Amino acid sequence: MAIVKPVRGMAGRLVCFGVETSCDETAAAVVSLEEGRPLILGSVVASQADRHAAYGGVVPELATREHLRALEWVAAEAMRSSCLAWADIDLVAATRGPGLASALMTGHCFGRAVAIAAGKPFLGTNHLEGHMVSAFLDGAAPPMHGVGSWLALVVSGGHTLLAVGRADGTHEVIGSTLDDAAGEAFDKGAKMLGLGYPGGAALEAATRGGNPSAHRFPRGMLRSGDLAFSFSGLKTALRIYLGKEFGGSAPEGEALRDICASYQQAIVDVLVGKTAAALQQTGLRVLVVAGGVACNAALRAALTELCGRDGIRLLAARPEHCTDNAAMIALAGAWRHAGSGAVSPWDEDVVPGLGLTA
Ligand code: KG4
Ligand code: ZN
Repeated sequence: MAIVKPVRGMAGRLVCFGVETSCDETAAAVVSLEEGRPLILGSVVASQADRHAAYGGVVPELATREHLRALEWVAAEAMRSSCLAWADIDLVAATRGPGLASALMTGHCFGRAVAIAAGKPFLGTNHLEGHMVSAFLDGAAPPMHGVGSWLALVVSGGHTLLAVGRADGTHEVIGSTLDDAAGEAFDKGAKMLGLGYPGGAALEAATRGGNPSAHRFPRGMLRSGDLAFSFSGLKTALRIYLGKEFGGSAPEGEALRDICASYQQAIVDVLVGKTAAALQQTGLRVLVVAGGVACNAALRAALTELCGRDGIRLLAARPEHCTDNAAMIALAGAWRHAGSGAVSPWDEDVVPGLGLTA
């Protein structure tokens, strides 16, 4: 995590304290935004993945309890590493949705309480908007208002969408999944292959040395002519294949490597194919890729090739900003507040099914 001593007293600088608890990561961060350039002053993520692994998925009650345990020290540590006092904070942002209802409530309540105690404005922030701006947290990224509009491919455990981001902080979803998210396809595939949970990274690791053309898994809706995704057929195809070829037991060695590489290739082909279509349709020249699945090296390589071929500028979120974190929430909150002065009323509720609307 970048921990940088801040330069104080710069005009036009907005410092935001962000909180994220939408799923199984408890996170807090301090981000300053100046002239469209974010600087992470402190960022802490406490992952609960180990606590949920035994259940093969996130248990909402357990996640909520763990957030309550971790929030105070995670927030204190983010503030300590920023070298700032609460008086230096201009805005508190916390994830309002989408996510698990009770998990969201912990961070959203915590953020409001901190804002009230410190006498600061509060802004409930959209988790997806956080992913959309997360690539700009990279010090090498251009200033946010310098890129005009951009296409974002957000691929996480809960969401798969293509959206247009604009310099004024508004956005428009132009494609999303009809069923499973790309991360879910990785996780469910990994579970069937005995690779544990969450399985995206483990499945990717198991592709090493595998042949991505060994099996032809379906590329759901790749030729549908629109920007919708579907991954549930892929998961079913894997289940049927494993039942037929291995009688329900987990494959090993070369067979496992080939299956993982082929399964991953099917997901990557669909994500890249739809992204190429969206770039063509919109004429946009900047592509942002973010969300947990954006850690995947095969996806990053395929998008790099696509963008290199078509002269598109690719901004891929740094791996530590792909998975859930609070720096992206602080940046999304600061960006929106700086653009429109947006603040939330004190009686605002969380919205577990919050969509990405302008
Ligand atoms: O963005 P994120 O941390 O949480 C959500 O908002 O959902 O994304 C988590 C997802 C999980 O499904 C995880 O398996 C997937 O990102 N993931 C990966 C990789 N690393 C994480 N999927 C494919 N390859 C990876 N290397
Ligand atoms: Zn997320």
